[in-house]
Amino acid sequence: MKKYLLSSIILLFSFIHCLAEEGMLIPSLISAFESDMKAKGMKLSAKDIYDVNNSSLKDAIMHFGGGCTAELVSGTGLLLTNHHCGYSQVQSHSSLEHDYLKNGFWAKNHAEELKNPGLTASRMVRIDDVTASVFFGVNPSDNPLERENTMKKNIEQLIKDAIMGTHYVAEIKPFNYGNDYYIIVKEVFKDVRLVGTPPNSIGKFGGDTDNWVWPRHTGDFSVFRIYAGVDNKPAEFSDKNVPYTPLHFLPISFKDRKVGDFTMVYGFPGETEQHVSSAYLKFIVDKERPARILMRQKSLSVIDAAMRSSDEIRIKYSAKQASIANAYKKWIGQVDGLKQLDGVSIKIAREKEYTDMAETNETWKKSYGQSVALMNKLVSEGSEWEFKYAMGVEYLSVGPEFFKLVKGVDELIKNFEKYQENGTLDSIIKKSIDGAHGFFKNYDANVDKGIFDLLTVEYVKQVNSETVTTACGDIESLSNSIYSKSVLTNEIRFTEFLKKLNKKSISKVKKDPGYKLFNILIQDFREQVVPNYLAFDDQMTALLKNYVAGKYEMFPNAKHWSDANGTLRITYGKMEGSAPTDGMTYTEHTTLDGIIVKNNTGNADFELLPRMLELHKNKDYGDYAQDGELWVCFTGSNHTTGGNSGSPVIDENGNLMGLNFDRTWESTMSDYMFDANRCRNVVVDIRYVMWVMDKYSGAKHLVDEMVLVKE
Ligand code: ARG
Ligand code: ASP
Repeated sequence: MKKYLLSSIILLFSFIHCLAEEGMLIPSLISAFESDMKAKGMKLSAKDIYDVNNSSLKDAIMHFGGGCTAELVSGTGLLLTNHHCGYSQVQSHSSLEHDYLKNGFWAKNHAEELKNPGLTASRMVRIDDVTASVFFGVNPSDNPLERENTMKKNIEQLIKDAIMGTHYVAEIKPFNYGNDYYIIVKEVFKDVRLVGTPPNSIGKFGGDTDNWVWPRHTGDFSVFRIYAGVDNKPAEFSDKNVPYTPLHFLPISFKDRKVGDFTMVYGFPGETEQHVSSAYLKFIVDKERPARILMRQKSLSVIDAAMRSSDEIRIKYSAKQASIANAYKKWIGQVDGLKQLDGVSIKIAREKEYTDMAETNETWKKSYGQSVALMNKLVSEGSEWEFKYAMGVEYLSVGPEFFKLVKGVDELIKNFEKYQENGTLDSIIKKSIDGAHGFFKNYDANVDKGIFDLLTVEYVKQVNSETVTTACGDIESLSNSIYSKSVLTNEIRFTEFLKKLNKKSISKVKKDPGYKLFNILIQDFREQVVPNYLAFDDQMTALLKNYVAGKYEMFPNAKHWSDANGTLRITYGKMEGSAPTDGMTYTEHTTLDGIIVKNNTGNADFELLPRMLELHKNKDYGDYAQDGELWVCFTGSNHTTGGNSGSPVIDENGNLMGLNFDRTWESTMSDYMFDANRCRNVVVDIRYVMWVMDKYSGAKHLVDEMVLVKE
């Protein structure tokens, strides 16, 4: 008995130990972590961080455009986020005469700030556990449909009650695979204007070469401002709107930093999968990721070569290349990290710990004894469908680009008679021609053909479906016919087709080789792959729900946290470097000197404008330096993921130290498994951000809007 107790305590301890700085915590539950955070140096209280009745840190954190995080830094609505988060807005305002991408942009006053239709910034009003209310009236004997209906009705009612008489919006999201439900009430601002951005040579410094990599020197920030109606409530864009007065904004941490300083990241992480089973992780590491990486490597081999050979293609493909390369590079890091750490064996050991614990008690044994085995069995039975689904995404949506035009053509065909009858046909055709022009502006048929040739071979091989194999037939001749004849691969042919749209051309396009191919493939994907994949995913979610419930019940003292799901979270750790591989140590910060060293390599990703060299030569760092050095970036042991970009990194007093924007390559495995020894988030130091505004860009008036704290 004694022996058993001791070993279980040691195991339990290891469960806790490996979770030290791991976790993305729900703000309304943060008081449970207050003492640990204080032990790590924090001087704030849980209520300073999250409070529904009084203003708190959470009121300064905004969900930016749905995919990134931003923070308020002045009493007049000034908002900071990453350069790569505001990139499409900056691009949309840029032209040859006003090349803001190349030269940067700074509004000198409110009147010069640029509007961004469609861009929103949302403040979270509150987040509450509504699990009991969502399950109210659900009986164990209900069939799944009855259960779902009751829950749906409850959810609708809860949302209605939560926003009644307010201008808020609300949603209810499952947490822990449906063990818990939370309501999130939000205030959505719709007038968000661009105030300033540094040039690409600062905001994107390092480009793809440095993406996901440390040491890093990117000034990844841009500046916006939230406007509201005169009542300070959200309003559609209007010249009458005024700068928003926030409930809270973050003062700027201007004091010296040292290794070990407390850091907290407050933002909107998108997705993590900490609970997946060992067999699933093995599937990801050995099969799914390598196949996706290979698909992207093939596309990139074509795109990169073409971009090197022509400036025109370089400009056309730069954004597409960046997006394909971003995940490609992340996945390589993920697989490497999980292999180096032997993540699968770690999972197997944890699963044994779990099942052994379940064996200690009859009730647990009944509920959780089979949990791990069932998940791993399901992987062997059904992961094939997840694999085919992933291949479909890589080929049909990330692969040959002409596929993207088919949906629009289908819409036109389907509604042709209706448009004719209601007299809208001409205007719809004109709109389609304009849309197609936008598409072809960034399209090169030779590049697309190169991608098609390589990826089609791979897709046929990987999905192993008779329909697909037959449809693709002799790939070389199919490719030649698509790229010499199809209306989808040439702007002139496509425009002619649209202009002459009639019954005859419609029946002709149905025989178009590109149109025909895509429709056969997408139908096969929708009918064969998607339903099987969704069934697999549903069954896995149900098993994970039970598995996670077991973790909470059997290991009540471990640090539990719900996987990221795009809701507001807190993660804390400290500023520190790392030693990710044998014989290599990363220091925790980089400086302006390092920018110059990289520039000297001649790599185009490290190009600078002359002003930077000049300022560096004069060492004109003002108050922004520490011990004579201008810090650019630093790393911390904070558990972050995609969506945390732009998140504030906050010091022990609640002041802004910098903007989170990336992770080191060795860290990217943290979406599946956090390792406190190697996982580091990458942050641009706020003092560099201020220096770029003030000294580099002459926008001191923005620095003056903020509150700088030296203590
Ligand atoms: N790796 C960063 C995050 O996933 C994005 C950085 C953007 N920069 C780039 N060169 N793609 O989203
Ligand atoms: N770069 C990511 C983002 O855009 C952050 C990360 O994945 O660490 O959200």
